[in-house]
Amino acid sequence: MSLTLADDERYCFTVEWYEEMAARVRQFQFFYFVKAQSIEMYDIKNRKMFLRTSVKENNISPADLYLGNSINVCGRLLNIVDYGDDYTRRKLSAKKERTLGMIKPDAVDKLGQILDKICQKGFLISRLRMCRMNRNQALSFYQEHQSKPFLNALLDYVTSGPVVTFEIVGENAVGAWREAIGPTDPSAARKTAPTSIRAQYGQDVTFNAVHGSSDPGAAAREIEFFFPSSGPVPPNTARVGNCTCCIIKPSAVKAGMAGKIISAITEAGFQVGATQMFTLEKANAEEFLEVYKGVVHEYSAMVVELTSGPCLVLEICAPEGSPPVAPAFRELAGPTDPEIARHLRPRTLRALFGSDKIKNAIHCTDLPDDGQLEVEYFFRILDR
Ligand code: GTP
Ligand code: MG
Repeated sequence: MSLTLADDERYCFTVEWYEEMAARVRQFQFFYFVKAQSIEMYDIKNRKMFLRTSVKENNISPADLYLGNSINVCGRLLNIVDYGDDYTRRKLSAKKERTLGMIKPDAVDKLGQILDKICQKGFLISRLRMCRMNRNQALSFYQEHQSKPFLNALLDYVTSGPVVTFEIVGENAVGAWREAIGPTDPSAARKTAPTSIRAQYGQDVTFNAVHGSSDPGAAAREIEFFFPSSGPVPPNTARVGNCTCCIIKPSAVKAGMAGKIISAITEAGFQVGATQMFTLEKANAEEFLEVYKGVVHEYSAMVVELTSGPCLVLEICAPEGSPPVAPAFRELAGPTDPEIARHLRPRTLRALFGSDKIKNAIHCTDLPDDGQLEVEYFFRILDR
């Protein structure tokens, strides 16, 4: 789903930045120059150049340029709210179709495997949230099935536990995702589409593991249902009890390792109590990593890494009655430096998935007492 760009192209968007110091939203024209590999921002209200920077320094690629995405430019989290000109709209809107995917309750324990498969099929997940629907919410989500004989079975099913919902962005996303999940009935899928997700993870026509929007109109409605710009959403599932926090870092998410990391975590006997994708503002990353400030000299680089794209935050829990989860999870995470981890503890997450001390695949809570605090920071404070 990559874009092919002519040499001298320029893309233009309207972006918004919430300036915390002044508690106001500022609007900019955002330009992406393909050949020069540069970015420019003009302050719309003050009619002047705001900043000019390189694409490379900000780790931004054309794949990141779609409506609704948040990108980090020089530490500022910018929300892409609209196309800035007709050329950009014409050129990109077809390539940036969106759809809603959902892992249904019976398949949430296969989250890692299914995410890995989604990634291997080349899909880009732009937003993701584990949540739990009540019956009214499920009924509203499935409004087109109100008069179907299977409605009650369907509502029982999707409210029986957490679901993981996500937005996929890309060319022909609606059709491509429907094809990837396969026919509604998994036994039919196993015959006609054996590599589809329902063929591999579904049980029967009710318990069929995943959902996909049926057309672009339904996709827009369903994305708005789970990811509205304001208003209530089905709540996240964080339990905040015996838990610890794991962040799959932006570089690992970008490298497509999230699914494999989650599989390694669950295969080691841990539970994922909640998960959500966040793109962090510099101020939030600094606040979150504050305990390392002045303690580890990589602090600044850690902030840069944590704000360099979407990260996947996990609440890690253990089955009821287990000893404290934080120390056990640190064992699985392994030494901070992946090089050292590969020598001393080759089966740990950092040894398997990290590349260097900064891009070391995951953050995990250091002190047992901080586990709950870090989980609360994401799932009680940052989750709107
Ligand atoms: P979704 O992507 O989940 O919307 O599936 P779909 O579009 O392939 O199927 P449809 O929208 O027709 O049905 C929605 C969901 O209802 C299905 O995914 C199943 O979970 C369930 N369902 C569909 N048909 C039947 C059926 O005949 N019997 C039962 N018990 N459940 C059904
Ligand atoms: Mg449907």
